[in-house]
Amino acid sequence: MFKDLLRKKDVASMLRDAEGGGSGLKRSLSATHLVLLGIGAIVGTGIFVITGQAAASYAGPALTISFLISALGCVLAGLCYAEFASMIPVSGSVYSYSYASIGELLAWFIGWDLVLEYLFACASVSVGWSGYMVNLLHSFGLDLPPQLLGSTLDHLSSGQWVLTGNIINFPAVFILGMVTALLLGGIRQSTLVNNVIVAVKVGVILLFVGFGLSYIDVGNYTPYLPANTGEFGRYGWSGVLRATGVVFYAYLGFDALSTTAEEARNPQRDMPKGILISLLACTLLYVAVTTVLTGMVNYTELHVDAPIALAIDRAGEGLAWLSPLIKLGAVAGLSSVILVMMLGQSRMYYAIAKDGLLPPRLARLNAKGVPQTAVILSGVASGIIAGLFPLHVLAELVSIGTLMAFTIVCLSVLVLRKTQPGLHRPFRVPHVRLVAVLGAAVCLLQMFSLPLVTWLRLVAWMAVGLAIYFAYGARRSRLRRP
Ligand code: ALA
Repeated sequence: MFKDLLRKKDVASMLRDAEGGGSGLKRSLSATHLVLLGIGAIVGTGIFVITGQAAASYAGPALTISFLISALGCVLAGLCYAEFASMIPVSGSVYSYSYASIGELLAWFIGWDLVLEYLFACASVSVGWSGYMVNLLHSFGLDLPPQLLGSTLDHLSSGQWVLTGNIINFPAVFILGMVTALLLGGIRQSTLVNNVIVAVKVGVILLFVGFGLSYIDVGNYTPYLPANTGEFGRYGWSGVLRATGVVFYAYLGFDALSTTAEEARNPQRDMPKGILISLLACTLLYVAVTTVLTGMVNYTELHVDAPIALAIDRAGEGLAWLSPLIKLGAVAGLSSVILVMMLGQSRMYYAIAKDGLLPPRLARLNAKGVPQTAVILSGVASGIIAGLFPLHVLAELVSIGTLMAFTIVCLSVLVLRKTQPGLHRPFRVPHVRLVAVLGAAVCLLQMFSLPLVTWLRLVAWMAVGLAIYFAYGARRSRLRRP
């Protein structure tokens, strides 16, 4: 039995499966599509919402440094993702990499963890989308009944769950329904919509940076690193560190890209490009936005839900025309994050089901090459969670789940280099020991900075996962069959 838990998939057969028509997914994504999907998944709530709060509460104008440090952590993990995605370009991402390097039980564990990440990312970003959409509709004089705008449940700081009196967060459920319908139409249609959305959101951000530059008051940069208040994490270097953990969320999404490897035309060559270029482009955008934002508005005033909109309003008449565009950019931006996260979630169900660890129905493709049941399951599960739960509960679970996945990816690269040194690696992580160990260490450190209750929720989620594995997957695994 114990030996069964460590059974591994053979990389050569995985590649044959993915390439020799074993998978019916359509190979239609070029390198440009992948970069745009990456940017589509990354730029969202992080930059449009979290930036202001992180500057106001933790780092001040030095938030730019936090963004750079966080980018470094993500690039280390991104390099490891790139090696795997080019070597084993299949749709299961870290789940499949671990299946090849460490064994079935751990692979399931990671797969279940990735389901947590993508499921809760879809739900949390759609709750953020709901807030921006309601605001945008309100500026056009359209208001929905308040009982349809908030979560059904809330979790108080005393630890109690309460009913809020709201029926459901309707806009969040609505956008998830729309994205599900879009994904059912096939990967080509989905990437086309993503490309348009990315053009809108990046365009709006560039307009903000370009026009905002002339409204910078250099006085707002002093002090650049506000003195620590005596409490860990409130300004000073400890504040920069805490802000690094908070803005980590802004970079999530590049990993979801690796779940589309089976749909890329030339994954060996293009996956590393997609992951690394999109990460780099977003880092540049983020550094530019935080520099302009903290120059336009004093950091002490940035504790708001829509910091970029606030900066535009402060600039006065001269930039008033940009205000509705910023809201539109945010709404569009968040939609594409939901799109790619939902894509990732459905491809995870698909990949796991193909190995027999989830019901085979989830691995069935429709005539357009879409894993239809997996997409519908992703939409329904995300919709229930987004409708019922508040944002703060969802977002922390996303971060801890992702950090765990990143840690395991970094370590798995090392394991596979040792156990299967002869495998063809179109992309190799430079200085692999340093990069992988440092990457894992940075991620672990950030995991430990998260509250105990988030850890307990992670443990509960993983326990449910293990119960499902022993009740179903362990007996039905494809590797048990001859
Ligand atoms: N990086 C994504 C966002 O900021 C999750 O919305």
